[in-house]
Amino acid sequence: MTKFETVRRVADLRSRLAAWRREGLSIGFVPTMGALHEGHFSLVRRSVETRDRTIVSLFVNPRQFGPTEDFALYPRDEAADSAALARQGAHLLFAPDLIEMYPPGSVTTVTVPGLGDMLEGEFRPGFFEGVATVVTKLLIQAMPDTAFFGEKDYQQLLVIKRLVADLDLPVEVVGCPTVREADGLALSSRNAYLLPVERARAGALYRVLTDTARLIEAGADPAGTEADAKRALERAGFYKVDYVAVRDAETLEPLVRGASGGRVLAAAWLGMARLIDNVPVGALSPLP
Ligand code: PAJ
Repeated sequence: MTKFETVRRVADLRSRLAAWRREGLSIGFVPTMGALHEGHFSLVRRSVETRDRTIVSLFVNPRQFGPTEDFALYPRDEAADSAALARQGAHLLFAPDLIEMYPPGSVTTVTVPGLGDMLEGEFRPGFFEGVATVVTKLLIQAMPDTAFFGEKDYQQLLVIKRLVADLDLPVEVVGCPTVREADGLALSSRNAYLLPVERARAGALYRVLTDTARLIEAGADPAGTEADAKRALERAGFYKVDYVAVRDAETLEPLVRGASGGRVLAAAWLGMARLIDNVPVGALSPLP
């Protein structure tokens, strides 16, 4: 078995990958910002199980953080991440520094209008441009056969699928289910910001989302459930709810009553942590 290795330069990444390709090995890729947890590991394991070689990237991308956001504070522990990745069976960690990723003079960006402007894009201006730009660069740098992303960041997954299709990137994008704690809280590097009393309340987000999905499945008007869900979150201790939105699972346009294939998405603040989550709306019963 090849031993686990870390590279920091695009040129080194490419030479390792070229050697694997010459051997005819298939390559899976898991982009991350580090502070790795079971959510990330589930993507890594999926790649390890289905592809011959697995690359993970670790890059806290400044371009997807707003000026008032937590770039400086974002948890970083490369030594722990790299040890855990080796245990998970990954083969290569790509951990570029800022200058390698954005050399002086680098200005070109990727935007995904529409999908990238709503919901998260509305509350975090520039966020999806930062994500789309770095993911496009990473995919071109690594040119994997398959890239794995979590449904936890559902809108991000759709934005990435869109840009891969629009730019003809020869990469298969695979979405993987959200890994949760026992109370339903989706694992996230940002959960580290929660104080114990906030952590105890955080499971309400998943509960409210699943309750909302069940109501819609039972025939409730999607738009009407959003305000109730928002109030339920506020009652549960979320001090600010950016949005609760019931949307079409592919276009993220408002879900029409009785339509199938929906998604309930939300972002809400608990103390210093801005939590996001989403759940599917299952097969809908027809209108009476
Ligand atoms: P990061 O937040 O580190 O997440 C890396 C990948 O792990 C993403 O695809 C995310 O959806 C997935 N993930 C996070 N928590 C998860 C959970 N609880 N269950 C399943 N998957 C989970 O998302 C980013 O980094 C960045 O925006 C990135 C794509 C790396 C671009 O900078």
